[in-house]
This record gives sequence, structure tokens and C-alpha cells, in this order.
Amino acid sequence: MAMGSGSLQLLFLILVSGLLFLETIKLGSSIEIEKKALLKFKDSLTDPSGRLSSWVGENYCTWSGVTCNNKTGNVIELNLSNPFPHSSNIHELRGEINPSLLDLKHLSYIDLSMNNFGGIQIPTFFGSLTKLRYLNLSSASFGGTIPPNLGNLSSLLYLDLSFQFNDSNVNDLRWISSLSSLKYLNLGGVDLSKAASYWLQTVNTLPSLSELHMPQCALLNLPPSLPSINFTSLSLLDLSNNGFNSTIPHWLFNLSTLAQLDLSKNYFIGGQLSRSLGKLCNLQMLQLSYNNITGEVTEFINSLSRCPDSRLETLDLGNNQLTGNLPNSLGFLKNLQSLLLRNNLFKGSIPNSIGNLSSLEELYLSNNQMMGSIPQNLGQLSSLVVLELSENSWEGVVTEAHFANLSNLREISIFKGSPNISMIFNISSDWIPPFKLTYINIRSCQLGPKFPTWLRNQSELNTLVLNNARISDTLPDWFWKLDLQLSDLEVSYNTLSGPVPNSLRFNDFANVDLSSNRFEGPLPLWSSNVSTLYLRDNLFVGPVPLDIGEVMPQLTDLDISRNFLNGSIPLSIGNLTALTNLAISNNYLSGEIPDFWNDMPYLYYIDMSNNSLSGSIPNSIGESMPSLLILRLRNNSFVGNIPSQICTLATLHILDLSQNKLSGIIPPCFGNLSGLKIDPDTNRYEGHLQVVAKGIILVYQDSNLYLVNSLDLSNNNLSGDIPEELTGLFKLGTLNLSMNHLRGKIPGKIGNLEWLETLDLSKNKLSGPIPPSMTSLTFLNHLNLSYNDLSGKIPTSNQLQTLIDPSIYEGNLALCGFPLTTKCTNDGGQAPNRDKEDTNDEGKFEKLLFYITIVLGFFVGFWGVCGTLIIKKHWRDAYFHFLGKLKDKIIGLVSLRASCLQGKLDRA
Ligand SMILES: *[C@@H]1O[C@H](CO)[C@@H](O)[C@H](O)[C@H]1NC(C)=O
Ligand SMILES: *[C@@H]1O[C@H](CO)[C@@H](O)[C@H](O)[C@H]1NC(C)=O
Ligand SMILES: *[C@@H]1O[C@H](CO)[C@@H](O)[C@H](O)[C@H]1NC(C)=O
Ligand SMILES: *[C@@H]1O[C@H](CO)[C@@H](O)[C@H](O)[C@H]1NC(C)=O
Ligand SMILES: *[C@@H]1O[C@H](CO)[C@@H](O)[C@H](O)[C@H]1NC(C)=O
Ligand SMILES: *[C@@H]1O[C@H](CO)[C@@H](O)[C@H](O)[C@H]1NC(C)=O
Ligand SMILES: *[C@@H]1O[C@H](CO)[C@@H](O)[C@H](O)[C@H]1NC(C)=O
Ligand SMILES: *[C@@H]1O[C@H](CO)[C@@H](O)[C@H](O)[C@H]1NC(C)=O
Repeated sequence: MAMGSGSLQLLFLILVSGLLFLETIKLGSSIEIEKKALLKFKDSLTDPSGRLSSWVGENYCTWSGVTCNNKTGNVIELNLSNPFPHSSNIHELRGEINPSLLDLKHLSYIDLSMNNFGGIQIPTFFGSLTKLRYLNLSSASFGGTIPPNLGNLSSLLYLDLSFQFNDSNVNDLRWISSLSSLKYLNLGGVDLSKAASYWLQTVNTLPSLSELHMPQCALLNLPPSLPSINFTSLSLLDLSNNGFNSTIPHWLFNLSTLAQLDLSKNYFIGGQLSRSLGKLCNLQMLQLSYNNITGEVTEFINSLSRCPDSRLETLDLGNNQLTGNLPNSLGFLKNLQSLLLRNNLFKGSIPNSIGNLSSLEELYLSNNQMMGSIPQNLGQLSSLVVLELSENSWEGVVTEAHFANLSNLREISIFKGSPNISMIFNISSDWIPPFKLTYINIRSCQLGPKFPTWLRNQSELNTLVLNNARISDTLPDWFWKLDLQLSDLEVSYNTLSGPVPNSLRFNDFANVDLSSNRFEGPLPLWSSNVSTLYLRDNLFVGPVPLDIGEVMPQLTDLDISRNFLNGSIPLSIGNLTALTNLAISNNYLSGEIPDFWNDMPYLYYIDMSNNSLSGSIPNSIGESMPSLLILRLRNNSFVGNIPSQICTLATLHILDLSQNKLSGIIPPCFGNLSGLKIDPDTNRYEGHLQVVAKGIILVYQDSNLYLVNSLDLSNNNLSGDIPEELTGLFKLGTLNLSMNHLRGKIPGKIGNLEWLETLDLSKNKLSGPIPPSMTSLTFLNHLNLSYNDLSGKIPTSNQLQTLIDPSIYEGNLALCGFPLTTKCTNDGGQAPNRDKEDTNDEGKFEKLLFYITIVLGFFVGFWGVCGTLIIKKHWRDAYFHFLGKLKDKIIGLVSLRASCLQGKLDRA
């Protein structure tokens, strides 16, 4: 029986629809599987801002961050990178990564960057997502060891695992060589120290690698040679911020495809930056800053300039020890946009060819040893935005020509730490500059005697610093009318006069420094935003405005010292809750200190000395100032007892209550001043150093004071004994109790104050012997015990024998022995005058001793100054640290700005 054609057709139809049905079921189930996988994945995550709120309904291909294959509907990309990484962390995905991802069989792209997985390990199952071509887990706070399973991702082109939790590391890096297609590898911030010996050989097996980012990987050595170079496609190499301390190895110079090379923030050393580096003619960016590279730069720049068509856009050699002149060939680097040479030892002047760098946008030459006058060709750099020439020894005259075409200039900084002025701006009063600056920082250059009129159209200024500029003028009306809103206004160390209007406007946390001028009239007050205000050393008169604390509530530093202010201290100062420094000394302020200390917990410096303040010292001063380091109330009219609350100032290092009318006893609880038992904490003086660093050298000089623990109660009416407890303050450097009515004996344990350099107990009524323990005060170089009732033989051993000035002891009728001429009797008492008996042996001997001591004294005198620095290692460090810090401050200001501009991180 044959089948009819109809039934054949029917069979065919059934077959086909059966197949279709099966296909549909299969497709349907894969869609179902992928959807379930995504939902499981979502469920394991925490999503505080609801970034995955679109992950509902059937069509997952429309869910945010999910991309499907158009034809099959399979998920191929998952991009869950945090779109707002720099706003609040609410946008971070957290939680766990569900292995359901393995059900997305076609996934080729995963980006989970900028989320926060709280230090969990990168899941090992990622190694099974074998279709992956792109994996980005950058800054997603994974931690621990990176699983070698990632080596199974043989299709991977991009792998970015940079900047995870700071414990992220590898045990073994050899799996990298399995990623044979890899074009991009970023392991920034991952600790690769366990792979230190072979990491380079491993990445060198990747023939397609075009970008290799390994900054901050704790790599310590960069092998000096490589047998063969296999990563011949390399165009970017970032090895910054590792520990390399060799010379730059030669194989690097054969990477002729390199366009970007970053070796900054290592310890590379090296004779010359070899010419070979100049052969890398494809370079667009060369970053060598923050290394220890020495030698001449001239040949290196010459060789760079020989590239037929230089592409170099960024050349950063900053913070090395390079020297030599900048050669004229610099002008051939036609595409240069950023030239950063700061903080080196470059010499000579700026080559004239600088004018050829028509693309140059940033020029940083600060802190070198360059000199000479600035070439006028600089004025041709029409693209220039930032000009930074500070801390060199420029001289000569700057004219309009220097700025002629700088129409894009926004920032200029030419300052020196030293007050010597060697550069003069000679600019005619009707010149109108082509630029609108936002930032001017000029110190120790002559701009005066007139206030520079070329500022007249600079209406976009944010920072204006014209310190020590020989300006003898009033601030002109047009300046106030510019209606600037400034973050920084400094015109200190000029001879500016006239009143200061209240009409200026400032940005949040602004700094204003008008110190050391001849400004007059009432103290200016500006609303709200100023945070550091220095008006010291002017001719301001009248009272401190009563509402100062309410008008400028952000103040952290207020220095109005050395003016002619009178009236009382306004209560509203107590509203300055952020105040750290308060200096109102050397005025004519009177009345009592208001009891306003309760809300100023950060105060660490108070100087009210040399006024006419009266009343008793407020009790609350000690109760509410956990940070106070320095309290100076010298030369006022305070009366009454020293409040024992002072003893609770645990961080106090300098207490000066001298020249007042304080009476009663020295509170024995002074022995609790624990700040005087430890070395001064120099770091904490920063705020004041800032004050200091903004001035010139003259101001720096009293800096030493801040490094000495000191207690000065002299010239009061204090009575009673010197409390024995004071001898527990064993890091005290200065103790001055002179000119009081103190009685009793010098405490026997005075020798415990082994760091004491100055001890003045003169003009009291102290009696008894000089304690023998005094001889152990080995740093003592200033001693005064005169005009007391001390008796007995003066101890002479050790340091005391170097203090040979008899006036130290004069006015103590019962003291005897050297260096007084009064001889002692055998029982230690005073002998009858035997001046005439000098001729006997004993006399000769003492004379000899006297000469020896003079000679010795010379050395010791020397030692007293230098010895302090040599012996007291901590102080020495602190002192040089301090000096260094001043420099850093200055450089810091510059480099901070620079790095902000470039968006670069500083080595921490
Ligand atoms: C999907 O199709 C659209 C429109 O045809 C096209 O623009 C898009 O590139 C395709 N996407 C993929 C991943 O193939
Ligand atoms: C991934 O998502 C981020 C944040 O939404 C977005 O900025 C980025 O362009 C996306 N990347 C791709 C390749 O679509
Ligand atoms: C990975 O993500 C980060 C942050 O979103 C991004 O900056 C980086 O360029 C990405 N890496 C790659 C290779 O695309
Ligand atoms: C993936 O890598 C691990 C570790 O390198 C290895 O043990 C494992 O066999 C690999 N898995 C596959 C499927 O290749
Ligand atoms: C580099 O390439 C050469 C030639 O292709 C090959 O013999 C050598 O094994 C490769 N070296 C490495 C470290 O992959
Ligand atoms: C370089 O660093 C290594 C590893 O830290 C150290 O052992 C070596 O002494 C250093 N060499 C120099 C010249 O500083
Ligand atoms: C940098 O080099 C100088 C001079 O060669 C050397 O004295 C100094 O120790 C080096 N510093 C570091 C951190 O290697
Ligand atoms: C200033 O301080 C006083 C006393 O503590 C307080 O009563 C007043 O409310 C404060 N004023 C402001 C504006 O904070």
C-alpha cells in the first residue's frame, strides 16, 4: 500500500513542527535559565541606591547594564560599573557574586569596577567564564589572593584588576602567560612581591600586549637585561610607584613602540639619563618624576630633540637631582604641552628657544638653581596656562614683552622663600594684559612702589599673593571694585597703608594675610568664609569688633598681634569653635579675659602677652583645652593665684605667665603637666608654622622657641617654696622663676631636669646650699641664681665648671668658692677674705683651673649651641624636620597646585 502524497506532506509538517517545537523549548529554556541566573546574581548583591531596580519583568535584555546578542537573546555583556564613583558610596553594589553567572554561557564582557565587595576574594569560578574577552574589577574592593584560575580565560583581551583592597596580592603570577591574546593588563596596587623575580619574564610572553599597568605593585627590581623582547606591541608601560632602585635598564630603550612611559615614584638612580632614552621617538608621555636620577640633562634633551618629528607632549622630570643647563634644543620638542622640571638642580637660564614651544600649556621650573633673567620669548607661548618659576635665583627685569601673547595664562607663580629681591617688574601703568589670571603668587619680587595697575582688569582672580613686593601705596579703589571673590589674599611685608574696607568677598576657608604693613583704621571684618586671618604688625586701632566670632565663625587662625588695638577681648571669640591659633599680643587690650573657653577644643596656641589685661586667670582655661600647647600671657596685669586648673593642660609645652602680679604659691600640681615630660610635638605646631612660613625669614627666627619646653613664671609676686614636684618635669628646657618671693631650698632633685638649658631662680629669697645634683644638668648653658640667700660651696664639677661668670651667684652673701672670689673654709663654709694669698699653691692651682675652664668654656659654649642639635637626636630631627617643613610648605603649595592640575597622586 503506497502512501498518498497528502499523508507525506502531513508527516513532513508534523516533523517540522516537532523540530520547531523542540527548538522553541530549547530557546525558551535558555532564556529562562539566563533570566534566573541574572535574578540570582541580583539577589546576592546589596544595592542601596536601587541601581538594579529595572531588573524585573521578562525581557532582561532591557535591564540596565545587561547587553544581549541581538539574534539569540543571550546575555553577552554585564556592565555594572558604578556610574557615580566619586559621589557618596550609596551607589556602590556590595554583597556577594553569585556563581549563577556561570549559566550565562555567552558572557564575554564583565565590568564590576568601582563597587565595594568589602574585601572578599575574586571568585575562583570567574576562571570558568571562558568566553570572557573583557574583565574589569578595578577598584571594586576585592581582597586577598588573586585566583590563578583566571589563567583559564584564554580569550581575554582586557584584564583590569587594579586597586583593590590593600591586601590584594598574588602567590604566583605565572598564570598570566596563559592569557595569550591579552592586549591590556592592569594590576595596579596588587602586591606582586611574591612574583618579583619573574614577573617581567612572564609578561614578556604576551605578544599582543599593548598596555601594561603595574603601578604600586611592590616590585623591587627591574632586571637589567632581557634576553629577547616579546611584548613588541607595547605602547604603554606604567611601572610607577614601585621600589626600583637601579639605573633605568637598557632593554627599555628598545621598546620603540612605546608612546607612554611612566617610571615615576621609584628610586631610580643613574648617572645620566642616557641618550638612548631619547631614541624612543614615539614617546608622547615620559614620566620620570620622584626618582633619584642624577647627572646632566643636556645630552638627554638633545637626543630627544633629534627625533625627526617629536611627538612628546608631556615630559616630567620633576623631583630628581638632575643638573645641567636646559639646552636650546628644547625648542625642537614642538608638541610639548607639559614641561615639568621642578625640584631638581638645574642651572643656567631658560633657553630662548622656549618661545618655539607653541603648544606648551604648563611650564614648571620651580625649586631649581636657575638664574639669569627670564627671556622675553616666553611671551610668545600663546597656549601657556600655568607658569611656575618659583624658588630660583632669577634676576633682572620683567616687562610687558614677557607676557605679550600669553592670552591663555591663568596661573603664575614666582616666589622665593628668601626675602632678597633680585627681580623687578617694570610694567607701565597703562598696560592691559592679554590674560585673565585666576592665580597669582609672587613673593620677594619688586612690583612696587605703586600697587600694580595691570591688575585692574584681573576680575577672575581667586588667589592673589603679592608678599614682600616693595609696594608702598594704598590699595586703590579700583581694586576693591573688582569685586573679587578670593580664596587667598596675601600682601604681607609691604608698606601698604590706608584703611581696609569690609567689602571684600571670600570663598570658603579663605586665607587672608595683610601682616607687616601700615594698614590703619579699625580692624576689617569680612563675613563668614575666612578661615585664617593674619593682620599682625599694622597700625590698626580701636577695639576688636564685638561680633568678630559671629561674623567669621570659620576662623581657625586669628593673629591681630602688634597693632594698636584697645578695649577688651570680645566675648564672641568664644564662638570660634574651630580656632587653633589665637594671637592678640602686643596691643593695648584691657579688662579681663572672658570666661569663653568652653567651645574651643582645638586651640593649641594662645598668645595674649604684652597687653594690659587684668583680673585673675580664668579657671576654665584648663578644663576645656585638651590640645593647648602654648599659653603666653606675659606682661599683663593679672592678679590672684595661679589656678590649679592649668595643671590639667596635658599637652602644654610652653607656659609663660611672667611679668604679671600673680601671688600665692606655685601649684604643686604643676608636676602633672605631662607635656613637659615629653619632647615637644613638633608636628602639632603646623598651624603656627604656616603662619610663619607665609612670612619671610625674620619671622622664621623665633621658630626655635617652639621646640623648647618652657615654664616661665618670673616677675610676679609668687611666694612659698619651689614645689619639689617641678623636678618631675624632666623634659623641661627652660625654667624661669626669677623675681618672685620664693623661699626655702632649691629642690634637691633639681638634677632630674636633665634637659634643662636655662635655669633662672634669681631675685628670690631662696636659702640653703646649691644642691649637688645641679652638676648633672649637662645641657645647662644659662644659669642665674643671683640675689638669693644661698649659702655654702658652689658645686663645680661637670657642666657647672663651665659657667664661670660670677654674676650667676652674686648677691648671695653666704656662697663661696669658684667662680666667686670668696674662698670656702674647710667645713664648706665661707672663709675670711684671702685675696692676698693668691701666691700660695692653692691659689696658683685655682688660677690654672680658671684658665683651663676658660678654654673649656669656649668649647662648651660652642657645644651649647651645636651640642643641642648634635646630642639631642630627637630635637635635632625635629629642628631639621622643621626647616625641611618650611621648605616643603613652600614647595608643597606649588606642587599641590600642580598635582591638582594634573590630577596626579603624590607619593604619600
Ligand atoms: C543590535 O542591533 C542594533 C540595531 O540593529 C545595533 O545597533 C547593535 O549594534 C546590535 N548590538 C549588538 C550587540 O550586536
Ligand atoms: C558601563 O557603565 C558605565 C556606568 O554606567 C558607563 O559609564 C560606561 O560607558 C559603560 N561601558 C560600556 C562599555 O558600555
Ligand atoms: C575599568 O574600569 C575603570 C573604572 O571604571 C576604568 O577607569 C578603566 O579604564 C577600565 N579598564 C578598562 C581596561 O577598560
Ligand atoms: C583552571 O585553572 C586552574 C588553576 O590554574 C586549574 O587547576 C584548572 O584545571 C583550570 N580549569 C579548567 C577548566 O581549565
Ligand atoms: C620570545 O620569542 C622568541 C621568538 O619568538 C621565543 O623563542 C621565546 O621563547 C619567547 N620568549 C618568551 C619569554 O616568551
Ligand atoms: C635596592 O633595593 C634592594 C631591595 O630592597 C636592596 O636590597 C638594595 O640594597 C638596594 N640597592 C641600593 C643601591 O639601594
Ligand atoms: C639619592 O641619591 C643621593 C646622591 O646620589 C644619595 O645620597 C641618596 O641616598 C639617594 N637617596 C635614595 C632614597 O636613594
Ligand atoms: C556664641 O556663644 C554664646 C555663649 O556660648 C552663645 O550664647 C551664642 O549663642 C553663640 N552665638 C552663636 C552665633 O553661635
